[in-house]
Amino acid sequence: MAIRKGKGQKLYEKAKKLIPGGSQLLSKRPEMFLPDQWPAYYSKAKGVHVWDLDGKKYLDMSIMGIGNCLLGYSDTTVDTAVKKAIDKGVMATLNAPEEVELAELLLKLHPWAHMVRYARAGGEAMSIAVRIARAATGKDVIAFCGYHGWTDWYLSANLASNKTLDGHLLPGLEPRGVPRGLKGTLIPFHFNNISELEKAVKKAGKNLAAIVLEPVKGKAPTPAFVRAVRKAATATGAVLIADEITAGFKFAKGGSHLAYGLKPDVAVFSKAMANGYAMAAVIGTRKVMGAAQTTFISSTNWTERIGPVAALATIKKLVATDTADRLVRIGRKVKAVWETVSKKHGVPIAIGGSDAIASFSFSGPDAQLQKTLYVQEMLKQRVLASNLFFGTLAHTDAHVRQYTQAADKAFAIIKKAIDTNTLKQRLDGPAAHTGFARLN
Ligand SMILES: Cc1ncc(COP(=O)(O)O)c(C=O)c1O
Repeated sequence: MAIRKGKGQKLYEKAKKLIPGGSQLLSKRPEMFLPDQWPAYYSKAKGVHVWDLDGKKYLDMSIMGIGNCLLGYSDTTVDTAVKKAIDKGVMATLNAPEEVELAELLLKLHPWAHMVRYARAGGEAMSIAVRIARAATGKDVIAFCGYHGWTDWYLSANLASNKTLDGHLLPGLEPRGVPRGLKGTLIPFHFNNISELEKAVKKAGKNLAAIVLEPVKGKAPTPAFVRAVRKAATATGAVLIADEITAGFKFAKGGSHLAYGLKPDVAVFSKAMANGYAMAAVIGTRKVMGAAQTTFISSTNWTERIGPVAALATIKKLVATDTADRLVRIGRKVKAVWETVSKKHGVPIAIGGSDAIASFSFSGPDAQLQKTLYVQEMLKQRVLASNLFFGTLAHTDAHVRQYTQAADKAFAIIKKAIDTNTLKQRLDGPAAHTGFARLN
């Protein structure tokens, strides 16, 4: 079937000629969802709804901006605070006083930490944390687990072998442009794997600057893993960095490490802390954070006012409610929908992820075609869906009911396609991409 492209896809075709990679974020490339068909751009977003450039309204049951709008899109409280700040001016020769108020709030929520630095994005905040750790210890090597952004310190892991980062979220990331001199500065280990952690620490020897990990990754950390990570950092003098960019505020009133008894030396926040506004924070002990003054970490736009204002309004609202419990509740409901429609139609899937960040995968050699067909059939019913669900406080039972009806129909179609071997024929465009790929 020939595709009638909407305004969004037409604009995206132009974008790919002007913007290498089309989007600034791999996870928002339309090819990751539904090549040639995904609406690509939004004109308006409010609560859990998104309007495309043709004015079509969708229920968002997918990545919700990618986990950064826990209050729902365009939250009135946060937006009102931001608009007030805009009216008073968001940039000046002097600094924004909200930086200090936000520091006090973050430190109150994390009593183990004493000092804070700010940035505006997750990857750059991780670079700051790693720079501080290297400056504080005078050492170079980082033992790490998971995904931590696009910058050189992290991508250098793939200089050793271009498969090092496989299994840490995105397979196939090329380290082109990363100085070869960084080779050997990163050693990977897998989450909850104590023997790999110990091997990585041993391999780093006397040169271990930091251990970097997300406190929760699909599943909760085992108490033994939590103890082992802290013990390894303390024994070697390495800085323990908790990457809370995705997990922060979803599992506890602050960093997820609070929920699992992990005591880091540094924690890094970004996504959920400002409900979609650009903001990031690196918090840590006085001993480690003091090293930020011994190296040069400084940027003009880190001083703008909207980020701290949005973060204050967002965090106050998130901690005033039972956010973590509500995310578990909504996530479990969505997982139950997946289980029900999968069983009803006899389409096997594997459900995974935490409740706050739920996911499922289709099975067999046609898994990617099944996923693409799922996204396509959900989109036809005005639901933005993928095999990932980032719940928010704005998702209600009524949204889950609408989602259930749509998923029921989509799974019926997938089942018919599998039984008649017509998965490819039923797709109105190409299959979705699975990871990082060059776009033409
Ligand atoms: C755990 C983790 N660290 C770092 C990053 C990078 O953050 P950003 O995309 O804001 O640069 C992400 C983004 O998905 C993440 O999930």
